[in-house]
Amino acid sequence: MQSILLALAFSGAVLACGDDHGHVVGDGHVHDHAKREFPSVKLTPPSRPLTWGSLNILHTTDSHGWLLGHQKTSFPEPNYSGDFGDFASFVSHMKELAIKKDVDLLLVDSGDLHDGTGLSDGYPVGGVDAQQSNEFFKQFPYDVLAIGNHELYVYNNTLDMHKNFAPHFEGRYLSSNVNITINGVSKPVGSRFAKFKTRKGRAVTALGVLFDFKGNVANTTVQKVEDMVKEAWFVDAIKDEPDLFLLAGHMPVARDNWPLVFNAIRAVHPLTPILILGGHTHIRDCLQLDGRSMSLESGRYMETIGWMSADLPEPKGHHGGYSRHNDEDYSAGSRAAENITFSRRYLDPNRVTFEYHTRRGNFSFDTTQGRSITKGLEQLAKQFDLGFTYGTAPHDFTIYQAPYPANNSLLSLMSEVMPVALTVNNTRASIPNIMIINSGALRFDIYAGPFTKNDQLTVLSYADPFLYIPNIPFSVANGVLPALNGAGTNHRKRDEAVEAELWGRGYVGTRYREWMEDMVRRNAELDGQARFTVAKLTPGYVTTDACPGVGDDTPHAPLEFHSLPKFIASAAPIGLAVDAPIDLVFVDFLEKQLIGILNGLQKDKVYTTADVSKYTNVLATEALGIYAQQKWN
Ligand SMILES: *[C@@H]1O[C@H](CO)[C@@H](O)[C@H](O)[C@H]1NC(C)=O
Ligand SMILES: *[C@@H]1O[C@H](CO)[C@@H](O)[C@H](O)[C@H]1NC(C)=O
Ligand SMILES: *[C@@H]1O[C@H](CO)[C@@H](O)[C@H](O)[C@H]1NC(C)=O
Ligand SMILES: *[C@@H]1O[C@H](CO)[C@@H](O)[C@H](O)[C@H]1NC(C)=O
Ligand SMILES: *[C@@H]1O[C@H](CO)[C@@H](O)[C@H](O)[C@H]1NC(C)=O
Ligand SMILES: *[C@@H]1O[C@H](CO)[C@@H](O)[C@H](O)[C@H]1NC(C)=O
Ligand SMILES: *[C@@H]1O[C@H](CO)[C@@H](O)[C@H](O)[C@H]1NC(C)=O
Ligand SMILES: *[C@@H]1O[C@H](CO)[C@@H](O)[C@H](O)[C@H]1NC(C)=O
Ligand SMILES: [Zn+2]
Ligand SMILES: [Zn+2]
Repeated sequence: MQSILLALAFSGAVLACGDDHGHVVGDGHVHDHAKREFPSVKLTPPSRPLTWGSLNILHTTDSHGWLLGHQKTSFPEPNYSGDFGDFASFVSHMKELAIKKDVDLLLVDSGDLHDGTGLSDGYPVGGVDAQQSNEFFKQFPYDVLAIGNHELYVYNNTLDMHKNFAPHFEGRYLSSNVNITINGVSKPVGSRFAKFKTRKGRAVTALGVLFDFKGNVANTTVQKVEDMVKEAWFVDAIKDEPDLFLLAGHMPVARDNWPLVFNAIRAVHPLTPILILGGHTHIRDCLQLDGRSMSLESGRYMETIGWMSADLPEPKGHHGGYSRHNDEDYSAGSRAAENITFSRRYLDPNRVTFEYHTRRGNFSFDTTQGRSITKGLEQLAKQFDLGFTYGTAPHDFTIYQAPYPANNSLLSLMSEVMPVALTVNNTRASIPNIMIINSGALRFDIYAGPFTKNDQLTVLSYADPFLYIPNIPFSVANGVLPALNGAGTNHRKRDEAVEAELWGRGYVGTRYREWMEDMVRRNAELDGQARFTVAKLTPGYVTTDACPGVGDDTPHAPLEFHSLPKFIASAAPIGLAVDAPIDLVFVDFLEKQLIGILNGLQKDKVYTTADVSKYTNVLATEALGIYAQQKWN
């Protein structure tokens, strides 16, 4: 692999387009994927230096292929413009700082490496998702990595993690409750746990836990967390007391099952420090399950790098020569039962942030490895033709920042896209229809300008097929969307069932949306002076969590937010009789819910799965490109 990366880096140096704007190359496609290597807008530096402890952690999670960072110039994208090459330079400098301070610095990832950009999903036919983008992860000195649900939707992806990814990390790629079955034999995808020593000699016991995910592909197994903690291997793994437990996992730090793992450990070790690094809901969050533990979740899409510091006691069996960074006298024994001092910070990944915290300037920041990673990623983007342009988006289309319906709402756009894209080469095109998709399928905004292969894969990254039920009376079909969105009798039960279905399949939109909404609500509650101060900040995330002090590294004003329906539909056909038969078209996983709704809305026919067929070969991931080619040229 080393040689392939070197080759990539080398050819990248020759071929990389260094300009900030798209340019036309020989094949006539406009290539706009070239990283805006250096921010073109002036970025605000962080508010204050990081607080270092005797043990520190840099945390990534839910990167979903965003290794080239966020490259658009619309708000707030430049704030997240750091790429994985910049991050590599940052990690190297931070490691040097840790050595100077004589403290530990660990690097942890909490999963979801697949699905989300062209770098992971734009591979040619016959390839494996994220196989090439994951090669860049391998260049980082990760201490612990945990499996995410997005590693489990396609068998070959899981197999690749097992065969190619996990071995590189030599026992540190953890899947405590996730197995893969190969030739009938079930085994952990990575390792169930890891025990290792830090540079400073601290004994660590690490786990990698996945939430109770139900959408995993056949021949993979996700064991419930409540069952995992009863396993003999688990009891055995936590029996000996380390200096700390490091619980990485793809599970939200709040409102999920971390307490099951935490309590199982606490029952045996009432005082051992427990550091939890979670993920999955794509938000910034922090809480403390007790005074000797902290749980951190670090956002999504490389919009956040998490930082946790802990003033841990001196490692057991290690005396003398050890002093804390602030040279205070320190004795583990006498403070054993006291609360541990923790800090946490959510960093906006951009060069300004990275240079500020490493006290480097633009010209002393980049490491050779960092530059080679950037060039390698740019080369991969070229190889996958991610700059291929379907059309030009006339303006921004956002998920949360525009009301629905409105011209600049991505949901509104999607309700126009479906009738165009799904009827191409379709013999049912002339039959009136209503087409339904969940708004949570939309994973990212569209910005004005070239709409590329990469953009298509960032906006809709679940390759869901569309199904249909024919001959539904128009008035009945018309009642389906309101029912899905919570109208009518019995809606509470149905809402819960729909939400459980979405959650089990891995959709996290509801939690993320609640978080965004909360920011705007809190801002509205500020008094005049405070709101005036906030109004002068640039837009971004404004985190309120349950940990002490301010978490965001750079202060922002909240992004505009508008509430949105969970499901959207194409415009109903006009001028039809109430009993005119139409096609009800929908994303595949809604099948069960829709049949239930149809049988509640009318009593003339009992609908069953036998009434359902495939509507088109076009997948959700392809719809926008087809639309853009027709309408945006
Ligand atoms: C965020 O991006 C905007 C431009 O869209 C810029 O003005 C602002 O300074 C950035 N903020 C930070 C903290 O980088
Ligand atoms: C999975 O990978 C194998 C071998 O790499 C390949 O033969 C097979 O077609 C792939 N299956 C799918 C569904 O992509
Ligand atoms: C699971 O793997 C076995 C071989 O180990 C294979 O026979 C079976 O078809 C697979 N099941 C599915 C649903 O792919
Ligand atoms: C996972 O694999 C291990 C090792 O082969 C096996 O003992 C265990 O039963 C499997 N767990 C599940 C939930 O399939
Ligand atoms: C220790 O931490 C716990 C949990 O965070 C908190 O409830 C308690 O007040 C703290 N105790 C002291 C002495 O600070
Ligand atoms: C940083 O360095 C790069 C490469 O030399 C240069 O293109 C860019 O303009 C510099 N940016 C600043 C803010 O100095
Ligand atoms: C959308 O744009 C059209 C014309 O481009 C305009 O007539 C219409 O009022 C706009 N609708 C909204 C909701 O802005
Ligand atoms: C529709 O059919 C034409 C002609 O066979 C083909 O070129 C095109 O790719 C098809 N479009 C889709 C979306 O399948
Ligand atoms: Zn995720
Ligand atoms: Zn996830």
